[in-house]
Amino acid sequence: MSAFTIALLDGDGIGPEIMSEAVKILRLAESRNSGNSSNCLELELQHGAFGASAWFCHGDPFPEATRELCDRAGAILKGPIGLDHERTEQIPVDMRPERGALLPLRQRFDTFANFRPVRLAGGLRHFSPLKPAVIGAGIDIMLIRELVGGLYFGAKETGRRADGRRYVRESLEYDDAQIERIARVAFETARSRKGVLHNIHKSNVLKSSVLWNEVLGEVGREFADVELRHVLVDAAATYLCLDPGQFDVMVMENMFGDILSDQAGGILGSLGLMPSACLGPDKAYYEPSHGSAPDIAGRNVANPYSMIGSVAMLLEQSLGLKAEADHVWRAMRAVFDQGYVTADLARQGSKARTIGTSAFGDLVAEHYATAPGPA
Ligand code: IPM
Ligand code: MG
Repeated sequence: MSAFTIALLDGDGIGPEIMSEAVKILRLAESRNSGNSSNCLELELQHGAFGASAWFCHGDPFPEATRELCDRAGAILKGPIGLDHERTEQIPVDMRPERGALLPLRQRFDTFANFRPVRLAGGLRHFSPLKPAVIGAGIDIMLIRELVGGLYFGAKETGRRADGRRYVRESLEYDDAQIERIARVAFETARSRKGVLHNIHKSNVLKSSVLWNEVLGEVGREFADVELRHVLVDAAATYLCLDPGQFDVMVMENMFGDILSDQAGGILGSLGLMPSACLGPDKAYYEPSHGSAPDIAGRNVANPYSMIGSVAMLLEQSLGLKAEADHVWRAMRAVFDQGYVTADLARQGSKARTIGTSAFGDLVAEHYATAPGPA
């Protein structure tokens, strides 16, 4: 079997240090799965420049060499991007890492289906600002965000009208095919979980939501075993705080998903607990949902959970290693259950023991190494 190439885009800020922890887990997955001839995983891990640092070094936030690496790779693992305000100001607006690298990456690989798991299990409960009665048995939501349409990618125009007023126009466009494919992914995910899909929309105001809901209903007819519930996006924001347990799978368009997924990180207590998978028809990339935290970069204090969680999602989705992915999730939970935390997640008054980024990664690796081996 030839090696499976993974493009590693470290990104900016805390990116390189949390990527190092992700690499430990990938290498361990490789050694655990290269035991016999029917089961022989070989990974080729190649780093590529991406983000603001790439702009400063190469004059391009998504250099041609990185584009080619991503084209060749079987999957892409990406760290967070962006620098502090001052350094960002030095980069021309269209070359800033969001517009110049991240959106082009999404577009290049048409990664329309963004999975953002919102999970709060056992040892993570104390991170949440919600009361224990609201958390109940725990939070376990799969938020599915359409990632390559809507306002993010619509036509944009700015100018000055005849009356001298400056104006801006941005368009929110979806066609039925774009909605249908994300709906199908969402229904399938709901079918594989509890059989309930919450569709998040704003059809009382937006025509785009009217079409969105119509197509959801049409696709829903093929999934008679899945119950489709419609919730307005503003109400959904409230319910996420008051009663997150009512949600299992949620689907929504790009902009709503950007906002609600950060809110979902808020109810967990940190965006540092939000990994993600961005799936396209041929290729997927995986990334933490949080930013690059330049204020704590290089200090060995950032928690690698979302980066390692993204590795777990890669193992499951791109390599078909679901059991290994589950072991990685369990290993991370075990480290929290043992009372360890990194400084970025530490809460005042908590008895948790604060350790560094690399020590956290080492402990996750230790637990993962002792998990039952692949059959
Ligand atoms: C996210 C981020 C991005 C987005 C930014 C960095 C462009 O906030 O992945 O949620 O808005 O999609
Ligand atoms: Mg966001």
